[in-house]
Amino acid sequence: MRTRSLFALLVAAALMLGVFGLASAQDAALSGDLEIFSWWTGGGEEAGLNALIARFKEMYPDVNIINSAVAGGSGVNAKAVLTTRMLGGDPPDTFQVHAGAELNSLWVKAGRMEALNDIYEANGWMEQFPAGLLDLVSDDAGNIYSVPVNIHRSNVMWYVPGKLEEWGVTVPATLDEFVNETCPTLQAAGVIPMAIGENWTQSHLWESVALAVLGVEGYNGLWDGTTNWTSPEALAVWDMYGKVLDCGNEDMNALTWQDASKLVADGAAAFNIMGDWAAGYFLVDLALTPNEGFAWAAAPGTDGVFMMLSDTFGLPKGAPHPENARAWLSFLGSAEAQDIFNPLKGSLPANTTADITNAEKYNAYFQSAYEDWTSNVIVGSQRHGAVAPAAFDSGFLNIIAQFQGDRDSTTAAANAAALAIQTGIGG
Ligand code: GAL
Repeated sequence: MRTRSLFALLVAAALMLGVFGLASAQDAALSGDLEIFSWWTGGGEEAGLNALIARFKEMYPDVNIINSAVAGGSGVNAKAVLTTRMLGGDPPDTFQVHAGAELNSLWVKAGRMEALNDIYEANGWMEQFPAGLLDLVSDDAGNIYSVPVNIHRSNVMWYVPGKLEEWGVTVPATLDEFVNETCPTLQAAGVIPMAIGENWTQSHLWESVALAVLGVEGYNGLWDGTTNWTSPEALAVWDMYGKVLDCGNEDMNALTWQDASKLVADGAAAFNIMGDWAAGYFLVDLALTPNEGFAWAAAPGTDGVFMMLSDTFGLPKGAPHPENARAWLSFLGSAEAQDIFNPLKGSLPANTTADITNAEKYNAYFQSAYEDWTSNVIVGSQRHGAVAPAAFDSGFLNIIAQFQGDRDSTTAAANAAALAIQTGIGG
């Protein structure tokens, strides 16, 4: 008995030494740079990224991290810089890219990404990430090309409960209610009904309007070619979107998404439709309490539907420090990293073994988002790369800009139809 337990102890000690020996050998072997490319330069997003970097540095003290974040919400500027670098033979070690068409229609299709299946297998992630999400980062042959750090929701409407009470309005359940009742009441009281920001945030708003007007099937049909972009229903999206824009602040083109969120927090505007990185902004930048300083509802007419997107990181071919990038990616997908990052970022962990049900770590906003994520119908966000190719995205931003000036639904619908045909998603 004694001998056996001594033997067991020795085996355990040897195993531990082996494990630690291996770990420190790995750590010691990693040195040199790790360039991380993203568009997280402010607020909860920057705080989340910095917290990840700090933990990674503890794990790999000899790795020198270069944080090459390029400012600009939803990656409008970063993606242009990335394209130049990738096509010019100067890829970063790892870069942020949305799960879905943004990854697949460009970088995977061009053969520029390394498959990461070995990392998934070594970490047991095939069972830890939702199958539907893995599909969005895989090709038909089963090669997996990036590691999701989160699940964000696009169709969220933000407000301050005490302010709505003061102004005598409630959260509108439909867009008709919003444009016909809520908006005029607020305008009469001198309050901006809908805080709106620069061009890309307008296209963000557009997708929630499209979902409300077309419903799940009609919205999905825009991306698989079964909804005609010039049909009366699609035209009705532009008409309704124009009415929502008319409830917005005149200086919209000059505001970032944070500026627009702040109009709501400050009580200058009643509502804002933005992804739940706004929760990260309210929590981290403005230190507001959920359900007091800010509250949320599904964008009008979209209750029961979760429009998702996921931020992921991949490993480009030709990355100068692939081993460092692999260590970073192995860390990013872990429950530990996801629990460091997401409470600051406003998003849900993508790894299902993370601690999402812990309400101390993930406050009331996250609990509510998680409830919806696990019970709602899921659709993908166009604005944030899930359902339409990158080529559609840039053209669509131009259509949104033109519409913001002329409010011409027929031209917008026709241009969008042409763009859909050109970029291979229907028409
Ligand atoms: C999205 C991204 C979010 C957040 C947002 C605002 O595209 O997925 O993580 O960064 O842009 O910049």
